[in-house]
Formats: sequence, structure tokens, C-alpha cells
Amino acid sequence: MNKNDQILMTEEFVRQNLKGYDSGHDWWHIKRVRKLALFINEKEVLADPFTVEITALLHDTADSKFTGENSEKDYLLVSDFMDKFGMSDIRDQVLNVIKNVSFSNKNKSDDHDPLLWVIQDADRLDAIGAIGIARAFNYGGFRNNKIYNPEIVNSDESGKVTCQTETSSTISHFYEKLLLLKYRMNTLTAKRLAAERHEFLEVFLKQFYKEWEFGTDASISG
Ligand code: ADP
Ligand code: NI
Repeated sequence: MNKNDQILMTEEFVRQNLKGYDSGHDWWHIKRVRKLALFINEKEVLADPFTVEITALLHDTADSKFTGENSEKDYLLVSDFMDKFGMSDIRDQVLNVIKNVSFSNKNKSDDHDPLLWVIQDADRLDAIGAIGIARAFNYGGFRNNKIYNPEIVNSDESGKVTCQTETSSTISHFYEKLLLLKYRMNTLTAKRLAAERHEFLEVFLKQFYKEWEFGTDASISG
């Protein structure tokens, strides 16, 4: 089987496996991450492009948030798939990324992996900017979380971001994760792309609070 066919087979496998995920983790997310990952890798030349493409396609297929706790079963599914379609040579590399790509993943066993850096950066870029905001509110809706809870303080008076433990509002998620992502980019190319997207998060939050205050304080009468 040639590489083109392996990519087509992987696309089909991923489409089948993403059913049941929220629309922020859908096929379009996978396509965006693939494009970002290939772009970053082209600029940085960190890994084999075919391996980058296959890994980007497979990166969310064993996400424990959606598949339950049984990630091992999903890793096995990916592993069997790769063996079956002649990709055993890159299987362990790909599985290492799938296991470590998540922001929330505490497993830091193999951080020195250029393939992981590329995929992680691409996945993180898709979590910020306009698309990141859309995905966050979509995910919040999927979980039936509040848009915002003004009783939770998300930043101190100097405007410095403080970390939140509260996870029930989507605005809180900005402080827990989204605003931190630009500092977590591995590659220079991703850092550059993240700057504009991060700025958009800040513009959005400013406007959000402005509109929120308009409806809740006495400014209307003034
Ligand atoms: P990762 O795999 O990098 O840990 P996640 O799977 O946690 O990322 O997040 C995927 C998408 O869902 C991102 O766009 C993220 O911002 C969004 N998301 C995750 N948790 C929340 C949450 N509690 N509220 C709103 N959005 C969330
Ligand atoms: Ni992803």
C-alpha cells in the first residue's frame, strides 16, 4: 500500500472513530490540525512529513474525555489499524504522541520528541483565536456549563491572570487554559501564529466584560 492510500485509509478510520465527539473535536478540527502541523513542520523541519500527517489525523482518536477511562482499548485499536495497513514502523512514535498531546495530560515521560512538539503546537493553536473561542463555547454547551459566573474572580486587580480551579464556566476556561497556551508553544513558528490568536482572546474578553457590565450595573441611567 502506498503512502497516499495509507493517508486515505487513516482519514476513513478517523472519521469513523470521531463519531460521538462534540463538534469542536470533529473532522474539521482534525483537518485544521493537519494543515497547521504540516505548515509548522515545513518551516521547522522537525519530523518526517508523512509521519506528521498520520499523527495529526490520529491525534484525537483515543481522547479519554470522550471514550471514557478505557484509553488502553483505544490505543490498541489505533495500533492494530496501523499494523494492518503497513504502518508498524511509525506506530510507536504515533502512539507516544497520542498519549502525550493533551494539555491536561500529566504523563511527561517523553517530552523530548520533535513530532510531539509539532502536533502539540498545532492542536494548541486550534484552541485559541476565533476558532478556539467557538470551540470553547461549543464544548461548554456540550457539557451544559455556564457561559460565565461573575462570582468567580478570574484575574486580580492588576489584570494579571490567576489560575482557577473552577471549571463550570467557559469564561473560567480562558484563565485555566486558553490564555496560557501562547506561553506553552514549542516552536518559533507556532509562537508567531499564537501571538495574533492570543491577542484576539484578550479583545474578546474585554468586549465580553464591557457588554456584561452594561446589562448589570447602573451605567444605563448615567
Ligand atoms: P487537550 O486535548 O489539548 O487537553 P482538550 O481536549 O481538553 O484539549 O480541549 C479540546 C477543546 O475543548 C479545546 O478547544 C478546549 O478549549 C475545549 N475545552 C476543553 N475543556 C473545556 C472546558 N471546561 N470549557 C470549555 N472548553 C473546553
Ligand atoms: Ni485535538
